[in-house]
Amino acid sequence: MKVLVACGGDSPERAVSLRSGKAVAEALAVAGHQVFLEDLPTCLGVVEAARDRGADLVFVALHGGWGEDGRLQAVLEAHGIPYTGSGPESCMAAMDKELTRAVFLDRGLPVPPGKVYEREDAALPDLESLMAREGGHLALKPCCCGSTVGVSLVHRPEDLREARDLALKYDDRLVAERFIPGRELTVAVFEEGGRPRALPAIEIRPHEGFYDYRNKYTSGATEYLCPAPLEEALAARVGSLAEAAHRALGCRVYSRVDFRLSEEGEPFLLEVNTAPGMTGTSLVPKAGAAVGWSFPQVTDRIVRASLE
Ligand code: DAL
Ligand code: MG
Repeated sequence: MKVLVACGGDSPERAVSLRSGKAVAEALAVAGHQVFLEDLPTCLGVVEAARDRGADLVFVALHGGWGEDGRLQAVLEAHGIPYTGSGPESCMAAMDKELTRAVFLDRGLPVPPGKVYEREDAALPDLESLMAREGGHLALKPCCCGSTVGVSLVHRPEDLREARDLALKYDDRLVAERFIPGRELTVAVFEEGGRPRALPAIEIRPHEGFYDYRNKYTSGATEYLCPAPLEEALAARVGSLAEAAHRALGCRVYSRVDFRLSEEGEPFLLEVNTAPGMTGTSLVPKAGAAVGWSFPQVTDRIVRASLE
């Protein structure tokens, strides 16, 4: 197959996307595909690039911004060009933490208690009272960003201002959620015959601090346990919540669902990634390895399932 691997873009996750693109291109070549790696400066460039190369399909290795929020997918749909992963509406809902929370709450899926604020409404006294109500620890995040860009964990009210201002650098809305002390888990979901199936959960243990940008992309900074050491019943519950989250957002082909697991053993959904990282330290390739899929096989599955 002729595959155009689209990467780069202009979001705050550009550097990660370049790494994902390179790794995916190498893996697809090993799997026997003819691969063109394209650093895309704009969303519209994808049509010309795909046509020039005669690509059968575009592998979306873009993170954040128009590559992951549905705009690129809408352009490709409009031109009848096949691409990997979820469609425009799902990407948009998954990239927007306010929409994701609303969908999950409607479906009765567990999310950390919290609130979404517009820039002009994110007053410090309101954030302080939310923090007091939610146990004294908050995660503040821009509504539309990935790779933990703009995210802070706040444990003291005097740190709220800096965290709020940082989140609002990246978006006009922020989500403030109770920080769930406990463990960090992620679950890759792959569709088989159109049905989502969770791969074994991965537990993420950063050696220092939380699973932020540095700990995500610095080799050796984080320990990964796959399968995560969970009792059978809890592993099954986490897997079925991941599948439910994938379905709730109408995702397609594959996704990666992030969780916090409380000290009491209650899983909380954080988000769904429709274009998850595919770098050498990324999680989806690790989950694939746990069920015996090499990285080239993971990328090949994604390509084939996207064309079904
Ligand atoms: N947003 C990054 C790339 C991830 O979810 O893996
Ligand atoms: Mg993400």
